Amino acid sequence: MKKDPTNSHDGACVAVVGAQWGDEGKGKVVDLLASHFQWIARYQGGHNAGHTVIAEGRKLILQLIPCGILAPGARAVIGNGVVVDPEALTREMSLLEAAGVPLAGRLFISQRAHVILPYHRMIELAAENAPGRVKIGTTSRGIGPCYEDKMGRRGLRIVDLYDRDLLRAHIENAVREKNAIAAALYGGAPLDAGRMFETYVEYSELIRPHIADACALLNQAADAGESILLEGAQGTLLDIDHGTYPFVTSSSTTAGGACIGTGLAPTRLTAALGVTKAYATRVGGGPFPSELNDAAAEHLRQRGREFGSVTGRPRRVGWLDLPLLRYAVEINGVSSLIVTKLDILDGLDRVPVCVGYRLDGKPCDHIPYTVAEFERIEPVYETLPGWQTSTEGLTRYADLPSAARNYLDFVAGWLGVEIGMISTGPERNQTIMVPESRLSSLLPRPAAVTV
Ligand code: GDP
Ligand code: IMO
Ligand code: MG
Repeated sequence: MKKDPTNSHDGACVAVVGAQWGDEGKGKVVDLLASHFQWIARYQGGHNAGHTVIAEGRKLILQLIPCGILAPGARAVIGNGVVVDPEALTREMSLLEAAGVPLAGRLFISQRAHVILPYHRMIELAAENAPGRVKIGTTSRGIGPCYEDKMGRRGLRIVDLYDRDLLRAHIENAVREKNAIAAALYGGAPLDAGRMFETYVEYSELIRPHIADACALLNQAADAGESILLEGAQGTLLDIDHGTYPFVTSSSTTAGGACIGTGLAPTRLTAALGVTKAYATRVGGGPFPSELNDAAAEHLRQRGREFGSVTGRPRRVGWLDLPLLRYAVEINGVSSLIVTKLDILDGLDRVPVCVGYRLDGKPCDHIPYTVAEFERIEPVYETLPGWQTSTEGLTRYADLPSAARNYLDFVAGWLGVEIGMISTGPERNQTIMVPESRLSSLLPRPAAVTV
């Protein structure tokens, strides 16, 4: 691969992260930006993610393979920080091939990524329903137990699938242990190691052409001045360290995770883009200070079609929470914010925004550390005027109603960060690139394919 001397943005390495609890519209944003980049990499999570892309009237929900695969010429990487369920992966590969998206020579899977096995799902389902356990409301994909085995140094990596003796021994030992745990603690039906081995051998052959040293590939690409987009999954408040623990996912969803989960050094990152809805949603249990449970909630849920992309569960909805968003801006070093679903707020008389909390009646100047504290805080709202004209599908900033511009200015001013892009509908072209924003100047020009 040759360095392109005409590209003034050589070496852009940009992370796109969720700034809330996931489902902010990262899929749409990455799909839109992907044509500017030569490589798109996922760095954490697994098929708990559901990234919706709607282009030319066609809807695709990608769970494991980066949305960038849809940009002709871009190469897609599943990094070492991702946990891969081969069943979900091969299903998604077939779905993309059936949709006419070529994968040969374009999809690369890190040999160091960890593998989800059926016992991870079994243990998770049993544990979530066990009496006395905190019910996180996970996606039941085995994500947490797989990361537990990784951190416990007893996981199985993609590369291990190809050492058949190791694979057989690993599965036999793990199944014996997990069956014993399930029987003792949860009373589940035992899994069969022999059948599991055969199935995973079959999967390993299906994905073999895509296995690569993803870390080396990405670093070579960066050395050659090629542009890389890092596609986050979930959101900052679901981060294992920085999120609303224990109601989080089991990986580092934040910009720091983009380095760990790909092997690209922190000094390579040139920008972090934070994606937030114009309001807030959350799927599953856990703190949500600005949550609504009234007619406004139902209005936003129906209008925003707020039902989980993966599980179909109704999403909890609420107003935008600026203290939490400021926290996300800080943790990720967000250089530009991208606001999605502005159109869903159309037609409201007033739009409240959470600008602080009160704890036990007194102002609270920090993000609560515990769930108990989260339960006791009360949001403080500032109410801004709504707008009655439609923003749906607008593509020019100047065409936004003045109250919508006022809302966005308020958010950007409060956070002290620019809003670089505004999404006004689910389609690729229903987007406003804010003129003269840093975001518009940092994007590499649409990638020419240099091989
Ligand atoms: P992700 O997980 O962050 O990629 O987000 P999801 O795909 O799970 O959920 C976002 C949903 O909002 C999807 O159904 C998108 O098609 C939709 N969406 C994204 N941006 C917009 C927008 O600006 N307006 C509207 N109306 N829908 C949007
Ligand atoms: P995308 O990438 C929204 C939530 C689950 C649960 C918690 C832990 O589409 O934004 P897990 O299965 O990860 O152990 O569940 O995290 N969750 C998500 N919520 N969007 C996601 O992904 C999510 N992935 C996990 O609902 O509360
Ligand atoms: Mg999603």
